[in-house]
Amino acid sequence: MRFVVTGAAGFIGSHLTEALRARGDEVVAVDCFTDYYDPALKEDNASAYDVARLDLAADDLALDGFDGVFHLAGQPGVRSSFQAFDNYVRRNLLATQRVFESAARSGVRVVFASSSSVYGDAESYPTSEDADAAPISPYGISKLGCEQLAYAYASSFGLDAVVLRYFTVYGPRQRPDMALARIVDALARGASFELYGDGLQSRSFTYVADVVAATLAAMEQAPAGALYNVGGGVEASMRDAISTLEQISGAMLAVVERPTAAGDVRRTAADTRRIEHDLGWRAETALADGLQAQWEWASVRVAAP
Ligand code: UGA
Repeated sequence: MRFVVTGAAGFIGSHLTEALRARGDEVVAVDCFTDYYDPALKEDNASAYDVARLDLAADDLALDGFDGVFHLAGQPGVRSSFQAFDNYVRRNLLATQRVFESAARSGVRVVFASSSSVYGDAESYPTSEDADAAPISPYGISKLGCEQLAYAYASSFGLDAVVLRYFTVYGPRQRPDMALARIVDALARGASFELYGDGLQSRSFTYVADVVAATLAAMEQAPAGALYNVGGGVEASMRDAISTLEQISGAMLAVVERPTAAGDVRRTAADTRRIEHDLGWRAETALADGLQAQWEWASVRVAAP
């Protein structure tokens, strides 16, 4: 099979690209190496394969002859989305609109990486896909806008799109602006970690290998137009995650308390019954095991000269 992966040098995209290549698929990897975080980290993520440097908001993505496109490229980050909103409009809405247009023209399925942040402070927990989407960050709004574009292109131009709402993905190569990456880095360096809010906010943390498995299953088995939560099985607070990482690392974290961040939701908890029913997928990785893997990956890098 031949696939395109956008965002192939990013955290999740690089794991997905490796999984596709490992099973023998041909992958055209695309990324534009924005400087939202150090592009050298993205070069490292994608060191095993060639990446085409495309700006999807301006350059054409030719999709004829492919079996599908995994559209993971985008401008991430909940908290930073109140600044530089134009990046979220361009790299999420505009880039995605162009990918959908190209995919509809070529008759190619798109699996689109959306986000649990579309729920905002959700109306119920665990949150099912039928709950109202009411994002409270510009980032979440941009992702919800992309989802709506998928439906618009499906209804008018026959786009075959599957939308996945990823819940706080973690593991080796996690983006350095994310909480667990910062905690691991602080523990490995003996530095401090700024905790936003009281630390009792919780997330359905989801291990990256589980996310890759869900994403592959969605491409292969999901009905057209499907929408799924991709969330870890157990909800944990930031304080829980910190104490698990303290046990793993054998160090105590120096926590500096800061006010709650704008756009931050209090809680995410994924109801995953739909994806379990349709695709037979459920998160397999226990938080302690996933954090162990992330710690091993990151602490070796910190220790390296
Ligand atoms: C994450 C990703 O950053 C988004 O790209 C993704 O779309 C989203 O998950 C999602 O699931 O939809 P978030 O849940 O905010 O967003 O994940 P983290 O950045 O790891 O933050 C988790 C919690 O830790 C938040 O409450 C945040 O305020 C807190 N945090 C983060 C800190 O206390 N200190 C930090 O330095 C960073």
